[in-house]
Amino acid sequence: MGTAKPITVLRALEIGWRTLAAVRHDDDARREARFLLAGVLGLEPGALALERDRVLTTVERNTLAARLARRVAGEPLQYIEGRAAFRQLDLRVGPSVLIPRPETEQLVGFILDWCQGRNDLQALDLGTGSGAIAISLAVEGPFHRVVGVDISASALNFARYNAKEAEVADRVDLRSGSLYSAVRPGERFHVVVSNPPYVASGETASLPPEVRDWEPAIALFAGPTGLELIEAIVDGAPAHLEPGGLLALEVAPGIVESALARIRANGDFAEPELHTDYAEHPRIVLAERHG
Ligand SMILES: C[S@@+](CC[C@H](N)C(=O)[O-])C[C@H]1O[C@@H](n2cnc3c(N)ncnc32)[C@H](O)[C@@H]1O
Repeated sequence: MGTAKPITVLRALEIGWRTLAAVRHDDDARREARFLLAGVLGLEPGALALERDRVLTTVERNTLAARLARRVAGEPLQYIEGRAAFRQLDLRVGPSVLIPRPETEQLVGFILDWCQGRNDLQALDLGTGSGAIAISLAVEGPFHRVVGVDISASALNFARYNAKEAEVADRVDLRSGSLYSAVRPGERFHVVVSNPPYVASGETASLPPEVRDWEPAIALFAGPTGLELIEAIVDGAPAHLEPGGLLALEVAPGIVESALARIRANGDFAEPELHTDYAEHPRIVLAERHG
């Protein structure tokens, strides 16, 4: 990309694809090259074909070269672009927040299903990160208030920005603190939801490098067993759930049984429901507090 020869969109796509093909499968390399070039040019990937003869400016060429180099080094596309798609949202993300996942879109879908026929609800999202869950509930669900809590001040800044961009900042109350410490005693919600950190501290090596080397440790690791935050969330939920309210959790397949056992042992919940994710892994746990 350093040459002074003019580079058209078509040529830039080819350079991008060849650069990324060194580290990615061919199909992924093509898709990612389109995605990165479109981001640099401020276009939708589908619009690139219409601009195939457009010549890149020097700034565009340099920006593309820098972004390709970051991708070759393994940085997730969403951090390079600074954006991540989540349900109806286009969220701002950076290295201090977890990139929201498709499984979490499903978690939100299950909560919205539960909301059918209910109105005027309040939800609590523990470990809100980018605000993906909290903001989606405010945008798509019958929630007049959603409280999002995070221990990371930097993550909360992203969540605040995203809530404003989605025009729900007046209904999404973002608070700094550890789990229920950010909630007043006696403050109750119809839904308590969390996609908490659930990787055991000894399991670092089992994570894909793209996760391990780039996503924030505070969003991934819970403690020696991986269950530490889930247990605290389950144990504290009855005190903050309305009777008949819903506890909705995303957990790792390997600790689903322990999470279910904790909920059953609590005694305050009906028999929990377990749902699989798109890859058919048990992942989403729903439990209603007794009415
Ligand atoms: C797995 S990420 C989930 C982020 C977002 N909810 C999502 O689903 O994409 C977990 C989040 O929990 C936050 N977190 C970690 N420990 C916490 C604690 N003790 N109290 C509150 N938030 C915590 C992290 O900063 C991170 O944003």
